[in-house]
Amino acid sequence: MIRRKGNLIKMDTPHTSLVLKAEGDGAELLYYGKTVRFGPDFSLLSGEDKRLLFSSYGSVDFRESGLVVLLSDGSAATRFSFVRVRRMEKPSALPLPASYGEADTVCLEFADEYAKLRLYLYYSVFSDCDAIAVNVQLTNAGKKPVRIRKISSLQLDLIGEGYSLVTFDGSWGAERTRHETPVNGTLVCNESRTGSSSPFHNPFVMLERKGEVYGFNLVYSGNHRETAEGNNRRQLRFLSGIGGLFEWTLEAGETFTAPEAVMTFGENRDEVTSSMQTFAAEHIVRGRWQKRVRPVLVNNWEGTYFAFDRERILTIAKASAEAGAELFVLDDGWFGHRDDDTSSLGDWTDYAEKTGGLASLADEIRALGLKFGIWMEPEMISEDSELYAKHPEFAMRPMRREPARMRNQLMLNLADKQVQNYVVRAVSNIIVSTKAAYVKWDYNRHITDPYGKGVAAGEYAHRYILGLYAVLQRLTEKFPLVLFESCASGGGRFDPGMLAFMPQTWTSDNTDARERLTIQEGTAYAYPTISMGAHVSASPNHQSGNRTPLETRFNVACGGVLGYEMDISRLNDREKEIVKAQIAYYKKYRELFQFGRYYRLEEKDGTGGFVFVSADQTKAIAVVTAKEKVTGQANARYRLKGLNPQYDYIVKPREQSNYASCEEFTAAGDMLMQGGVPTDLFCDTENDTNSVYARMLFLRRAPARR
Ligand code: DGJ
Repeated sequence: MIRRKGNLIKMDTPHTSLVLKAEGDGAELLYYGKTVRFGPDFSLLSGEDKRLLFSSYGSVDFRESGLVVLLSDGSAATRFSFVRVRRMEKPSALPLPASYGEADTVCLEFADEYAKLRLYLYYSVFSDCDAIAVNVQLTNAGKKPVRIRKISSLQLDLIGEGYSLVTFDGSWGAERTRHETPVNGTLVCNESRTGSSSPFHNPFVMLERKGEVYGFNLVYSGNHRETAEGNNRRQLRFLSGIGGLFEWTLEAGETFTAPEAVMTFGENRDEVTSSMQTFAAEHIVRGRWQKRVRPVLVNNWEGTYFAFDRERILTIAKASAEAGAELFVLDDGWFGHRDDDTSSLGDWTDYAEKTGGLASLADEIRALGLKFGIWMEPEMISEDSELYAKHPEFAMRPMRREPARMRNQLMLNLADKQVQNYVVRAVSNIIVSTKAAYVKWDYNRHITDPYGKGVAAGEYAHRYILGLYAVLQRLTEKFPLVLFESCASGGGRFDPGMLAFMPQTWTSDNTDARERLTIQEGTAYAYPTISMGAHVSASPNHQSGNRTPLETRFNVACGGVLGYEMDISRLNDREKEIVKAQIAYYKKYRELFQFGRYYRLEEKDGTGGFVFVSADQTKAIAVVTAKEKVTGQANARYRLKGLNPQYDYIVKPREQSNYASCEEFTAAGDMLMQGGVPTDLFCDTENDTNSVYARMLFLRRAPARR
């Protein structure tokens, strides 16, 4: 809800309030935090050091500014004054994706009469989560072009000390690992310059100190930059927006729309997680799959890599159907003459010698009772391809300079309309000819030689993302029934921009259960667990070499959307039975896994896990874990979360083949959360090294005692 009293504007989400003052020479943030009444005393919060809603270059405030515009007269200082405030519909950010749904929106308009610029800040509040979406537009109302060097999507000025910037960083196979950096008298920066949101630094960050946590994200899949700058006046400025090399010419009469930002406040990390997950699930993910249970899939990648033929695929598919899987995904290697990663990207035509006919292979897989899904990497081109021979100009590279290659491949110049059309055609043909129900959209390198004919270097990275979104918009509109899963060498592009088109993202190529716990936990800080692809793979794990019991691999994979990524036809009979029982168990509780409210269990001395709780708190599933067994150490107690303290629960450990005792017991909700649940986690029934121990517990409300 948004209300106004004179020059004060108060925005309320269910548990937070944001109060602004807008008048003559600008606008000021008075308060952002836990809900407050619209009392008479807000101006007391206006201080000597104003907290600004945006900052522009060339003022006496020498901190990093959110807006830098080079004017046609050679100067670069801009000074905006407040013009007016309006209630209105949430603005469209097209061609960028943005949040949708019922929201209350207010627009604050500012003008720099000298520079002939108009700046619009839109704040949208939702009634079902504590998230506020912020949109920024800059209009050139003059007669000459200007150049935007920087335009932040969000600025939040805070006063106080002791904040840390919490970031989710990593690399391939180690995505979204949490780090905390104190913000003292300097600038702390989280930036991706790879052309994508990247595995190195996710756009989701938090600013926190005891009892106060602010969460921020950007609905964008390209270069991004988040900074927190502190000084000795106890001021802290947070900025978030497009990062990397950026310079945009704004012609007379044109408007630039910055990517949408979202912010939330909570008293602890759990509250921020809940708001961010709800925001993404309800206002970012859209379309047919938003509220549908997701299928259990089997993917052949780690089972075969490139070395498969029709018979091998059908053998795996048959075993998948027998195990109870619902979707079979044919991964890399089915097109052109692709036997390794040196060729064929761009030639999205059947490698018939291998597939024995792709369309009929898809039919045969369907005849086994499975849906058919397919892998593609549509943004890429191999130099060894027919497409490159015919259209070398489609590649992103300055023609006479040797480009950098990653995984032996180049990227397509998606900033170009003709290339966009080609990609839409190629993907459409494959979906139509195979009747695919699912597409895994991969992206296995970063931008190194940003170049498109006629595109200024500083505009390229953003124009690429606009091109990508245009393609995704067309394809998702054309194929509304298809389930798209985004992938970027694993979880290299896990961001709200991609989620607006594709409801799932492959979380990481690292399928090692022990390491996945960290990656999944980091990801779930901001993203719904139903958007996280999580697969059971072989042991020893192909990435880490660690051995982990099959039951533990399953327990950990239930933290996202379950799949299997191995040749399950080569499992022994006992393992096949275990997998069958696992899939049946998952299906039985799938609603809870996929739509239950997620809680992290505190990591203490290597123990942790997660819980999903039903909306009415009558059911829950917990996975409790320990990353190491120390000799002589007793089993840990796990304090559950999210239960109703007034209810009693019957706790039933899942029957795991590696644990003898699975007896159920009854315990009070408050005891389970405050005292903890005892678990005999450490078993010796499997001889696994460097492993992780995990048990799954199903809880249901016990009949009330009389
Ligand atoms: C990277 C992905 O993350 C993998 O799952 C697999 O699809 C390979 N690419 C295929 O090349």
